[in-house]
Amino acid sequence: MLKGVMNESIQQSFDDLFSKILLEQSRFQGVKKAAPEKKDKLDQLLESYALNRGRGFFYPYISTGRGHGPFTEIQDGSIKYDLIGGIGPNLLGHSHPLMIQANLEAATADSIMCGNLLPYSHAKEMAEKLVETVKDSKLKHFWYAGSGSFANDTALKMVWQKMAPKYRLIAFEGAFAGRSIATQDITQNPAYRVDMPRNIDVDYIPHFDSKNPKEALSKTLAALDRIVKKHPDSHCAVMIELVQGEAGFIHGDKNYYHEIAKWTKDHGLFFWVDEIQTFGRTHELFAFQTYKLEDYVDILTIGKALQCCGTLYSEELNPKPGLVSGTFNGSLASIIAGSKTLKFLSEGNFYGPEGRSAKIEKNFFSHFQLLQEKNGKNWVPYYGGIGTMIAFEVGDSSKETTVKFIKALYTNGIIAFMAGANPTRVRFLLPLCLDDEHISEIFKIINQTLNEVLG
Ligand SMILES: Cc1ncc(COP(=O)(O)O)c(C=O)c1O
Repeated sequence: MLKGVMNESIQQSFDDLFSKILLEQSRFQGVKKAAPEKKDKLDQLLESYALNRGRGFFYPYISTGRGHGPFTEIQDGSIKYDLIGGIGPNLLGHSHPLMIQANLEAATADSIMCGNLLPYSHAKEMAEKLVETVKDSKLKHFWYAGSGSFANDTALKMVWQKMAPKYRLIAFEGAFAGRSIATQDITQNPAYRVDMPRNIDVDYIPHFDSKNPKEALSKTLAALDRIVKKHPDSHCAVMIELVQGEAGFIHGDKNYYHEIAKWTKDHGLFFWVDEIQTFGRTHELFAFQTYKLEDYVDILTIGKALQCCGTLYSEELNPKPGLVSGTFNGSLASIIAGSKTLKFLSEGNFYGPEGRSAKIEKNFFSHFQLLQEKNGKNWVPYYGGIGTMIAFEVGDSSKETTVKFIKALYTNGIIAFMAGANPTRVRFLLPLCLDDEHISEIFKIINQTLNEVLG
């Protein structure tokens, strides 16, 4: 398949540019403090950007566009560990060779954005590779979207059309589905839709409770039964995040998910999995593969780490013409990056019990255990998560303490974020390129920061 212009001379320049960019980017590694003379420059940039967008920023962060592996450089000259990966997309780390290549390959094409009406071979290739990775499931088709939220909007429309007029949706307490007009109603947090009209009827059920795993399933099933009794013949689907991102990486086990999926199918509803945050981050390429839900998933949404977004769906959910479309599939660079990410993750040793994702999890957990033993349980009363989605609680697990902790962590060289409310957790979306030395250094910084905040 032809993809852009290429000849010997372009190839030579491409190779030359690729190695020069990679070489230059790989200089930006290792935690570094801000340069005093650049601090004012960053403050000025932040101030004028805040004026432009109407409000300030959580962190004093504006990237220079330079960084390598887990490291990112900021306009004040500091270099920090990026352990939140732009809230998920940077699964492979900064200036990964495949991302540099994707950008260069995109530059050989005649356009920047790829459209729906007149698509490019790059989009065909990515979509085919993606469907191939889920070949053991019912998911047979892929439709591109511009964001995770829009992928969820598309999924909802497909489900609604098939189930019309049963429009009620079942979702989980703590759900986050995005901020579009439809998904803000699925997202449970009311603070994210202040003064908004309600457009969708959503019934919430409790997610897994790790403190009471035995009762968790019966509680969830009882809530499901109650809901369909209260609103008979009204629901279209159960929508689930198998690892709840914004809620603090709450996740169940295989049996819990199988029973919920069975209940869903027994009641004639679609089983919709939101993998926008989980793709690539658990013990298999997809979280539904980690929990062996291949026979149940009818529709799945994806974004973030894939570098492009969209909806995977079964034959049964293929919509009538006219329901889904839009100008763009995405930028050519992001679609090419999606293809490369899929190939890299599928062919490398990242998944399974011995894969890098499980090993990173294990390494983080053993460091947390050591830390608890050394400092007493009250400093880190909880740690958990799966794969490269790791969360922990600090001190009294309040939002106030957590914000204080992550801001101090930022000053000391690690970018994290928070998730959940009551308890609030520190959240890491880790890059797969972390090695064991990085992890030891990360825990030195965590220890130092705990001492500063709680000591
Ligand atoms: C589980 C989940 N669904 C949907 C979304 C929305 O995706 P986007 O921010 O790309 O619209 C997110 C984003 O954080 C998410 O984590």
